[in-house]
Order: sequence, then C-alpha cells, then structure tokens
Amino acid sequence: MARTRLLAGNWKMHKTRTETVEFAEKLAHLSSGMTTEKAKGYPELLVCATFTALPGLMEPLQKSNTGLGAQNMHEADHGAYTGEVSVAMIKELGCTYVILGHSERRMYFAESDAAVAKKTLVALDHQLTPIVCVGESLEERENGDTSKRIAAQVGAVLDVLKTRQDVVSERLVIAYEPIWAIGTGRTASKEDAEVVAKAIREQVKAELGDHVADAVRVLYGGSVKPENIADFLSEADIDGALVGGASLEAESFFRMAQNSAL
Ligand code: 13P
Repeated sequence: MARTRLLAGNWKMHKTRTETVEFAEKLAHLSSGMTTEKAKGYPELLVCATFTALPGLMEPLQKSNTGLGAQNMHEADHGAYTGEVSVAMIKELGCTYVILGHSERRMYFAESDAAVAKKTLVALDHQLTPIVCVGESLEERENGDTSKRIAAQVGAVLDVLKTRQDVVSERLVIAYEPIWAIGTGRTASKEDAEVVAKAIREQVKAELGDHVADAVRVLYGGSVKPENIADFLSEADIDGALVGGASLEAESFFRMAQNSAL
C-alpha cells in the first residue's frame, strides 16, 4: 500500500503569531512557482505551532497546501484543568493533527505512556490525526534497551486502540525520535532508524492486523535537515520526518519538501 509521505514541523516553543504568519507567507511564495504536476510528488506538509499561534494560521498556510497541528492536548473534553487545552479547542482553530507524547513532554511534564495512550484514543475518536512520539534515551541505547523501550511506548498505545475497533487506527502516525538525536546535530543512522521503524510496524501488525500496519505512517525525527532527509526516506518503513530546528525557516522547510519529493 502506498503511504503518503509526511513532512511535519514541530515548532516547539518558538515563534509569535506574527512570526508564524510571516513563515506561512514566505512558504506560499516559495511554493508558488510549482506546477500542479510537480506538486503531486511532494509530501504532505504540516506545521505544529504553539497554542497561541494557532488562531488565524490555517488560512495563510493553505496557500502552500500546508496543514496545521497542535503540539499537545488534554484527554478530557472539558473540566477543571487549569492551563490545559481540549481536542475541541484545537479542532476549532483548524488543526487536523496533534503531536502527542513528545519526549520533551514526557521528560519535563511527566507524561506517562498511559496518558499518551489515552490522548491518542481521544484524538482518533475526534477525527484528529495523532503523531505519537516514541524514542529511547542515550543510556537506554547504550544498555541495549532501545527495542524494549520503544515496544513499551508503542504497546501502551496499541493496547488502548485494541479495545476500540470503531476508531480508525489506520490514521495513526508514530514518530521515532531517539532522544539523544533531538537538537544535538547527531542523527540515528538510516539503517538503525529503519530497524526501529520496521519493528514498530511489526508490532502494529501483531496487535491490530495487516491492514492497519500497512496504513500507519512511521516518521523519523532527530536532527533532520535538508541535507539528510532523503536518506531517511529511502528506507522502506520510514514515511516521513518530524523536524524541529530545521523547520523554523521557510526556506529550509521548503528545501526539505523538495528533497523528499518522489
Ligand atoms: P530537531 O529536529 O531540532 O532535532 O528536533 C526534533 C524534534 O524533537 C521534533 O519533534
């Protein structure tokens, strides 16, 4: 099954509203000369902005066919959760994606595997596409615990999805982001990233069946840039990239789109 490639920018806590609109206008300008024929081979484009930048960002991004996503959400529909944001709130602003369980949220905000799994189900239940992040620390890698760690993180999500045959699990996106590769300039080798991506797909297959495993997209993240993105995408089980630093400038984001075009 042909899976649509996804190039997703995670802007983390960067950019004011004004700066995000400037990015969108620049990206529209860069992509304006593109023929429809050429655009066909491009990956699906997405940026995930901070909550404050989401209002009014969908329209300027549409000019370059770029989708909008949030970087987190709460699992409850509403309630006494000071400082949190619900699925309906981000959907209202035009988000079609949400990043869940990024390692920075797991690390600094104590998000557990169970919480991430719950949020994933809520996102799917509300027709949002969750990008669930998984990844091992340097210590886990050096101790040979990479596959165990990834399997536990992915397993927590699949265990919840298994209980709900009515949600469209095919929409799930899993981003493999080794923590030691995030913002460090170090990347996993494409071969190592493929080993993990393939194992994730095998695990999805074992738990949710062939059809879901064929459809689920697995991304690589961690120091991806225009110069190395094509290497990762040449691997059979890597369907795109989740990019931090190199997604902040429109030129660099557009170069990554060009370099991942088929
Ligand atoms: P960098 O691309 O800056 O390494 O960040 C990766 C990341 O955390 C994306 O979610």
